[in-house]
Amino acid sequence: MSHSVSVPAKKSIQTKISRAKTKLAQAKPSFPVRRMDYEFAAMPRYWFANEPSLTHLFTGMSTLFPEGESYFVRSVRALRKQIKDNPQLDKDIGAFIGQEAMHSKEHHAFHQSAEQFGLDPASLENATGLILKTLEKLLSKKANLLLTVGLEHYTAVLVVTMMDSVNELMTDDTVRNLWLWHSVEETEHKAVAFDMYQHLYGSGLNAYLPRIMIFSFALLMITSMMIGYTTVLMKRDKQLLNLRSWKKLGQMMVSSHKIFIPKFLDYYRPDFHPNDTDESELVAKTKAKLGLLKPADALAC
Ligand SMILES: [Fe+2]
Ligand SMILES: [Fe+2]
Repeated sequence: MSHSVSVPAKKSIQTKISRAKTKLAQAKPSFPVRRMDYEFAAMPRYWFANEPSLTHLFTGMSTLFPEGESYFVRSVRALRKQIKDNPQLDKDIGAFIGQEAMHSKEHHAFHQSAEQFGLDPASLENATGLILKTLEKLLSKKANLLLTVGLEHYTAVLVVTMMDSVNELMTDDTVRNLWLWHSVEETEHKAVAFDMYQHLYGSGLNAYLPRIMIFSFALLMITSMMIGYTTVLMKRDKQLLNLRSWKKLGQMMVSSHKIFIPKFLDYYRPDFHPNDTDESELVAKTKAKLGLLKPADALAC
């Protein structure tokens, strides 16, 4: 039996391929990748509200990013080939990878400066890397993507409060700019991993159940790591018995979780989508603060 393809059929396939290539070439990412080169050497020891516990909470959170965001990049890259039929999403995945790579680089630079206070953040980066590389080996590509999707929602929730009010408690301009720039970009790309997941696995029960199960695991994992890392940093800073400062941390946790918990629960809705919430006004204000607005954007807001 012959499998040869007729000349008109071949032409039609070639036309479809060339149309797809043109579409891919024409698509533009929905958000930019910005290169930053922050210089943190002059930061004070306690750059968050002059409080050891709050500074170490955020330094601990920061040590999750270099390895965490490399893991996000690997988990989307592992499935990216299957997205080529959606040029816009493919371009956005490219920009997502670019933004996360820049975040990893800048948070690592921040840790190198925090080293001057004897905190050894590199050891916490390594611990994060070890945990995530172990999970990556144990989990399927789908589950690794889902862990990324869940952690992206977790981050997207946190950064709203960061842009809204938390940044004002940061006493160092450069450190504040790092967190605000990161917050803006997390909001810009908050739907990319989710859209990739839906594109690949749909939104039926087989997609929904693993999504909420892995998010529950992600919440538990990230909360344990943050508490653990803050404790390690408090110990290294000889502040472990500073009960007054721990109390401040407790107060902040209670007040912020009143805001976070409903937003985390939102992810459990079967028809949840990251773009159900619109932070464009807050993002525009934050961009203005950072001087990131293009002239046209500045005129519009
Ligand atoms: Fe990031
Ligand atoms: Fe992200």
